[in-house]
Amino acid sequence: MRPFEQRHVLVVVTGGIAAYKTAYLVRRLREAEATVEVVLTSSAERFVGKATFEGLTGRPAGTSLWERPLDHIELGRRADLAIVAPATADFLACLAVGRADSLASATLLAADCPVLLCPAMNDRMWKHPATQRNVNTLRESGLEMLGPERGELAEGEVGMGRMSEPAEILAVAGRLLEEQTLDGYKIVVTAGPTRAPIDPVRYIGNRSSGHMGQALAASAWRRGADVVLVSGPASRPPPFGVGVIEVETSREMLEALSGALDDAHGLLMAAAVSDFVPAAPRSSKIKRGVGALALELVAGPDLLEETRAVRERRGIVTLGFALETEKALENGRSKLEAKNLDFVAVNEVGDPLSGFDVPTNKVTLLDRWGAVEEFPVLPKEEVADRLLDRIESRLD
Ligand SMILES: Cc1cc2nc3c(=O)[nH]c(=O)nc-3n(C[C@H](O)[C@H](O)[C@H](O)COP(=O)(O)O)c2cc1C
Repeated sequence: MRPFEQRHVLVVVTGGIAAYKTAYLVRRLREAEATVEVVLTSSAERFVGKATFEGLTGRPAGTSLWERPLDHIELGRRADLAIVAPATADFLACLAVGRADSLASATLLAADCPVLLCPAMNDRMWKHPATQRNVNTLRESGLEMLGPERGELAEGEVGMGRMSEPAEILAVAGRLLEEQTLDGYKIVVTAGPTRAPIDPVRYIGNRSSGHMGQALAASAWRRGADVVLVSGPASRPPPFGVGVIEVETSREMLEALSGALDDAHGLLMAAAVSDFVPAAPRSSKIKRGVGALALELVAGPDLLEETRAVRERRGIVTLGFALETEKALENGRSKLEAKNLDFVAVNEVGDPLSGFDVPTNKVTLLDRWGAVEEFPVLPKEEVADRLLDRIESRLD
């Protein structure tokens, strides 16, 4: 999976309780197809054994400068990225003064790849001026820092000192490995379903999970974009790093978009917006009565049409989605022209591996310059990467 495929990630584990979470981080890195090598300090080994990491990576885990001479040079040379998780107060101090008395510290001193530090410690240790001085020194030296977060600490106290979760570390690692081709661009993405209220407790919704829009937002953020995700009630949490505006109805989605589009360069409309909404939503709950209930539906706001003026005025590169049950390409092409879009990603309903509420999608991408590109069934993350590759090429 991009951007980890065929990349070397060095994970340095130091002696804090959060070391148990690092085993899961390593597993996630392996699932993302990174080659992972692990180095542990001798204190880290008291928390998690090196056999755990060797099992997860299929490679020897380094613990001593003297095991394999020159490992401290080779490990850093091979790495595209180094992650220190958890980074103890002691290890931050050690790095800040440039010590090289362990395999972990010597390797990082010799590495010239980006280094991501994920501190974890008691909140008083974190707040101590000595730790803060070391953190500032390391930041000034160009090392990246993620966390710590506020939350429950190992001793049961609550404070600033928790290591960031593996999913967040993975997201930031992805951004550090990816070329920052969208640095300076603002991309607005819509995702998820919308809800059209019938009364205060009922609504008309749809099966959209939000996955496709979230994958687009995550891919744009990884490339360095400033991303705003306008999301209906999705069934999965939003990706790390993006600004999220949560909405419920199509009207709210339109209002959020109007605010977000002013300084945007790209708009990716992956939300499944209600086409029809109840004509007169009731202000009190409709009671069960005798017999049937007829609901009158009217057309809801057409977001592509309503944003057309600002899109055209600002030259915002726009991608729309078209979910079609028949004549998919023909209908996709008409949508591209009728709504003045740059790209339309067409899904055909009926394929069990494509569309709503499945982790994969099968998309054909049409563009205003006449290209038609049919992708195979792919994970939505991979579809998002391929769509963004095309959109990126039109952003200037
Ligand atoms: C049970 C226990 C938990 C610890 N947890 C942490 C921690 O979360 N963060 C930290 O900075 N130090 C923690 N320490 C202290 C470090 O293990 C200690 O400073 C050690 O020297 C760090 O070595 P290293 O930085 O070489 O791995 C803990 C110590 C013990 C005994």
